[in-house]
Amino acid sequence: MTTPTPDPLQVLREMRSRAVLGGGTQRIEQQHARGKLTARERLALLLDEGSFQEFGALATHQVSQFGLDKQRFPGDGIVTGFGKISGRRVAVFAQDFTVLGGSFSEVQAHKISRIQDLALDSGIPLIGLNDSGGARIQEGVRSLAAYGEVFVRNVMASGVIPQISLILGPCAGGAVYSPALTDFIIMAGDSCMFLTGPDVIQAVTGEQVSAQELGGPEVHTGRSGVAHLSAATEGAALTLAKQLLAYLPQNNNEDPPQVRPEDPATRMDEALNTLIPADESQPYDMRDAIDAIFDRDSFLELQPQFAPNALIGFARLDGHSVGIVANQPACMSGVLNIDASDKIARFIRICDAFNVPLLTFVDCPGFLPGTDQEYGGVIRHGAKIIYAYCEATVPKVSIVTRKAMGGAYVAMGSKQMRTDLAFAWPTAQIAVMGAAPAVRVLYRDQVRTAADPAQREAELVAEYREQFFNPYRAADVGQIDEVIEPCETRPRLVRALEILRTKVQQNPPKKHGLSPT
Ligand code: HXC
Repeated sequence: MTTPTPDPLQVLREMRSRAVLGGGTQRIEQQHARGKLTARERLALLLDEGSFQEFGALATHQVSQFGLDKQRFPGDGIVTGFGKISGRRVAVFAQDFTVLGGSFSEVQAHKISRIQDLALDSGIPLIGLNDSGGARIQEGVRSLAAYGEVFVRNVMASGVIPQISLILGPCAGGAVYSPALTDFIIMAGDSCMFLTGPDVIQAVTGEQVSAQELGGPEVHTGRSGVAHLSAATEGAALTLAKQLLAYLPQNNNEDPPQVRPEDPATRMDEALNTLIPADESQPYDMRDAIDAIFDRDSFLELQPQFAPNALIGFARLDGHSVGIVANQPACMSGVLNIDASDKIARFIRICDAFNVPLLTFVDCPGFLPGTDQEYGGVIRHGAKIIYAYCEATVPKVSIVTRKAMGGAYVAMGSKQMRTDLAFAWPTAQIAVMGAAPAVRVLYRDQVRTAADPAQREAELVAEYREQFFNPYRAADVGQIDEVIEPCETRPRLVRALEILRTKVQQNPPKKHGLSPT
């Protein structure tokens, strides 16, 4: 008697329906009970309906130790493939926590590497959804080497295709380095990222800390600067990834997509003329300027809680994607420090890599003085801003709104940083340093020997302010191209970027530069 040959179509269908279940219905229920979505549910939210093309759904691990032969799941804890977001192609991978805790295996690495290679060759952005217990312990060195396979591809793709990482569960140990090598990290819910976990920390240092305190979204968006955005829910985090992608080109050979502008290019906002307080010691919120100048509701701020004395983010101007760098006078007077330098410099390089023009708003009293900063290496961190601006070849326009003092003036997009066009508002103050410290350096003896030292000092401060606290000396010597009314800023910037749209600039050929680290 011969056994009937199974229907090949039936075999395939059964294998596919098993693959869709990942670790099985019980594990899916557990995942839901944790308030988390499955890998496939996440991809369904991320991608245009019906656009997902999966590859590697039937791959399983070939390891049999530690009972793994009985836990062979099609897909091996990861879903990989290509899909579309707003009609634009994306490569995606989503770790499946229902299969062995999404632990990272040799097969996972092969599957991710495969789509990384295809994405790089075809110039398609890569989005990774991370939710994993780290290197699959049972696979030993195989799973460690597997991470290396992905890291090297992250690095080769860096600056060629946009890479976005979402952290939707645990991301521990060396696993954090693949996201860290990508361009943007978005964290959701109570996900966490850390190199060494709470248990190890307690064993080594005795310190007791929870996973959230160690590496939750609050830590990485606020304190460490590791993450760029966070959202309370997975759905909201996925939406942020889609919004972010809309400002970026498919790859470094393309321009970012242009949307049809709904906000008139000639719109002027009179409120800008009174934004800067008459009393220069008073703060104002640079976001108000940004909101009034750029296309309505188009500003997507990145790292809003990290180094809030600086602002970075994408916006649209007349439908074109732009990168905004600004000092934030509403926080620490907009001073530059170590964290702000890192935040600004990296963003400049991202914009430059992906052909996004840079607009810089300057209101900065200088670099933050103090031993903390000097010992922490503010020299090398601050140098990153200079390096990044000088190296960037995208169109660059700066606007001095108020203070542009000393090193901050030079670093924040002065003409010498190869800024193409420099504007200033009439409230601009462009000087080597503030009035009081300048008078102390220049006229110490004159003030000390005066009949009324306080009055003499006040006179000298007033003279200094008269001389330097305006944009006209800088305009006189060509450091500022045009002094404009604040309300004119939007139309002036639209036209400036129109002029620069076809800008071509090249750096000397070299293997790579040595940006300060
Ligand atoms: C194999 C793993 C695993 C791993 C979790 N699981 N992590 N299996 N290798 N790394 C399995 C669990 O045994 C469990 O299986 C299932 O996944 C779900 O895990 P739970 O512990 O029940 O879930 P939860 O309580 O939510 O805790 C999740 C967790 C925890 C915080 C991720 O599992 C954990 O601490 N895992 C180990 C994390 C870690 O140290 N990873 C190695 C990092 S070193 P069962 O069948 O029992 O339900 C590293 C080096 C990389 O990654 C270096 C690259 C350069």
